[in-house]
Amino acid sequence: MRVIRSVAEMKHFARQLRRAGATIALVPTMGALHEGHLSLVRRAKQECSAGIVSIFVNPAQFGPSEDLARYPRNLEKDVEALRPFEVDACFVPTAEDMYPADFITFVDPGAIVRRLEGAARPNHFRGVATIVLKLLGIVNPDLACFGQKDFQQAWVIRRLVSDFNLDVRVVLCPIVREADGLAASSRNVYLSAEERQSARLLNRSLERAKELVWNGESNSGLVTQAMRQLVEQDAGISLDYAVIVSPASFDTVERIAAGSVALVAARVGSARLIDNAILGPRGATEEELLEMAGS
Ligand code: PAF
Repeated sequence: MRVIRSVAEMKHFARQLRRAGATIALVPTMGALHEGHLSLVRRAKQECSAGIVSIFVNPAQFGPSEDLARYPRNLEKDVEALRPFEVDACFVPTAEDMYPADFITFVDPGAIVRRLEGAARPNHFRGVATIVLKLLGIVNPDLACFGQKDFQQAWVIRRLVSDFNLDVRVVLCPIVREADGLAASSRNVYLSAEERQSARLLNRSLERAKELVWNGESNSGLVTQAMRQLVEQDAGISLDYAVIVSPASFDTVERIAAGSVALVAARVGSARLIDNAILGPRGATEEELLEMAGS
């Protein structure tokens, strides 16, 4: 695996791979790789003959009071974690190379940026869409893998690809959970043991939503109320939102249908955590649920 640090070298290497007949899968990450990321890498390698993982903590997607400075970084450990997967390159550009002094063009993903994660994190999706467009431009992959955990991000990226007629297939991979049910996230390292107990309520509220739907409940207001009640029992967690949206429009729904998505966000200690579940029939696999949500 090559560790590539410049945009020019990455473009050259990807061009060489393509000339040699390879199909390329890109896994964009901000590093601090965990099992969730590794599941994306595994999928990338299944789908294409060449795999490229980018590691770049993108300053443009962090707000001024967010955790850019303390976001976990450990390149050596990340490179080690990638070795068994035999990816072709790990792309680790510098901020100066990605955003040179004369950089002026940002992607504006529309009204979605003011809802849910966008409302809580102004400019976040503008930064995400901009960096993803840049990475796609640099690597020119056939396929790019993203995690279902960042469901709104995945929605924004799908729109980006469709609106700009980009020639890349976006693949969404199911959420990977740690043993206690917490969704794998680089930000879980911020949690103390006690905070982790509170954080588990996010997944439990989603499990509650699934059960209610399996038992025939389709009223979104009742389901989100039950989710809220469960989380609000614990003073250690401050719920930001619990909503159910249509995966196509991202609008909140009144009636839950197969493929509707329950989304939660909360602050626990200094961490802001998000999680979600695609609602569907009892017994559906994660892959089937992703299909029902159009992914
Ligand atoms: O999901 C992430 O880690 C980031 O938002 C992404 C897609 C790599 C863009 O910086």
